[in-house]
Amino acid sequence: MRIVLVGPPGAGKGTQAAFLAKNLSIPHISTGDLFRANISQGTELGRRAKAFMDAGDLVPDEITIGMAKDRMEQPDAAGGFLLDGFPRNVSQAEALDVMLEESGMKLDAVLDLEVEEDEVVKRIAGRRVCRNESAHVFHVEYAAPKTEGVCDHCGGELYQRGDDSEATVRNRLEVYHTQTEPIIDYYKEQGLLVTISALGEVHEITQRAMDALKK
Ligand code: AP5
Ligand code: ZN
Repeated sequence: MRIVLVGPPGAGKGTQAAFLAKNLSIPHISTGDLFRANISQGTELGRRAKAFMDAGDLVPDEITIGMAKDRMEQPDAAGGFLLDGFPRNVSQAEALDVMLEESGMKLDAVLDLEVEEDEVVKRIAGRRVCRNESAHVFHVEYAAPKTEGVCDHCGGELYQRGDDSEATVRNRLEVYHTQTEPIIDYYKEQGLLVTISALGEVHEITQRAMDALKK
């Protein structure tokens, strides 16, 4: 299956993507994680992306689209993928359509995680991420690690993302409304949109998503 996950920052895209990718046996491709890995490895791409991410702005399309395309062309993505955080504006969605068309593929569904702003602000404020592995995500209240500041999975140090500060989150939400939300209509017109509520327990939402994707 080829699936796109959309939803505001902090909706739980990364959390759900980890379970959905496993259930569907497809790789989880997160452009945010790819950028963060490039930054921690000190690559030229990471250096170019960092200032935009720190400000909560979108990284320019000429950097993002090429990076996403390279990842989707890896052998493990040949049979399908779950995109998390890409596309994030209409021009990226159009570029994805062109990429897929060129290789004779199409999307199966776009899963939209719906959650109100008060809740995403709480989720982001309490989020802690593992330094070793960005898929190891916790929340000080909702998904607390057994030992404070230590990853349950690998013992790595948990930290708060630089772009999770209050001022940056405000801008990320604004960017979501103005630049990313229009892709919801874009995919609705293509008949691909599947909207579910992202409120409730993590495993309940995964089940809701699996049920919705089967339809
Ligand atoms: P990115 O990393 O994609 O960030 P985001 O979209 O803002 O999403 P988040 O990672 O903040 O949240 P999430 O929805 O994955 O939530 P999570 O599962 O962690 O992008 C970062 C930056 O990179 C962008 O600002 C931009 O600069 C750049 N970028 C990336 N892609 C780009 C693109 N295509 N174009 C241009 N620029 C791009 O959950 C959040 C918290 O809630 C966690 O603590 C979790 O434990 C908790 N939680 C999860 N589910 C639940 C639940 N059901 N109940 C209670 N708590 C929950
Ligand atoms: Zn870890």
